Amino acid sequence: MTDTLTIRRPDDWHLHLRDGDMLRAVLPFTADVFGRAIIMPNLTPPVACAADAAAYRNRIMAALPPRAAFEPLMTAYLTDGTDPDDLAQGHADGIFTAAKLYPAGATTNSDNGVTDLANIHAVLATMERIGMPLLVHGEVTDPAVDIFDREKVFIDRVLKPALEEFSALKVVFEHITTAEGVDFVRSAGANVAATITPHHLVINRNALFAGGMRPHMFCLPVAKRERHRLALRDAATSGEAAFFLGTDSAPHPVSAKETDCGCAGIFNAPSALEVYAQVFDDEGALDKLEAFASLNGPAFYGLTVNEGTVTLKRGERAADTLLTVGDEEVLAFDTGSAVGWRISA
Ligand code: DOR
Ligand code: ZN
Repeated sequence: MTDTLTIRRPDDWHLHLRDGDMLRAVLPFTADVFGRAIIMPNLTPPVACAADAAAYRNRIMAALPPRAAFEPLMTAYLTDGTDPDDLAQGHADGIFTAAKLYPAGATTNSDNGVTDLANIHAVLATMERIGMPLLVHGEVTDPAVDIFDREKVFIDRVLKPALEEFSALKVVFEHITTAEGVDFVRSAGANVAATITPHHLVINRNALFAGGMRPHMFCLPVAKRERHRLALRDAATSGEAAFFLGTDSAPHPVSAKETDCGCAGIFNAPSALEVYAQVFDDEGALDKLEAFASLNGPAFYGLTVNEGTVTLKRGERAADTLLTVGDEEVLAFDTGSAVGWRISA
């Protein structure tokens, strides 16, 4: 039995850092472990142009703990009015790594998102031409579609037609939650990949209602049935190049979670790599963790892998974290069962 596992320093290809006090409180958890992270742009107001992204990147750098070697990779928040030239210039200047598609109304701070893909036709054509990845929140917003079917329907109504038209567009189907998402990515070309969160590997939709309503288990896309969780575990631990690590760590104050109409988002950064390690261990696939966490993502994005390594050791993790941010509290993801891996200092 392996008790120690050393892997290339990993990256987080989907992360919400927020801003201000929250940014300063949550950033160290990621910067301690990960070399880089794709930073989600759904601030209020959203990070929609290159100048905003450069300013946000500076705020992240200023919030880093001393001597941290962490690189934020910035994304553009696509709107109906995104200027393809600003996007292309921001990409050429190294400010934007990718652009994020939020269907308007799909999730937290997505009201300024795209109402119809037809409105960003020129943007997608530009991105395909320059090789800039499109990061997709893959859920339809049609209220007539059952919330548990919104990812599956998005594939048929939006993603497939878009990839028929822009067949060379690089697409990351973010935080997939369904067997249909896994199948779609497997059947697509090498220009299509997906991130998988730790929480979707651990919980199914029962977790939302275990003994009562559980707002801290609520995220979007919402967790699905058990068969979908098993399909995600199979994909993540397969070692296949199309699947890589993206935590979707999304902190909200407890007061915004434990309320009527509570926010979607699970703050998993304090234990993300350890939880992934436990999943890979349970699946007998610890030898595939490095591909998922550290190799597949850079290969897809056309980046080199990180220098340095991270070592995981078998052993109980300390208790879950309750952060204080200003006069608010933020609760970290609790898997409900022991995580038998910790990161060695
Ligand atoms: O659960 C989620 N939280 N899903 C998202 O898509 C957004 C995120 C957030 O920003 O809180
Ligand atoms: Zn997200």
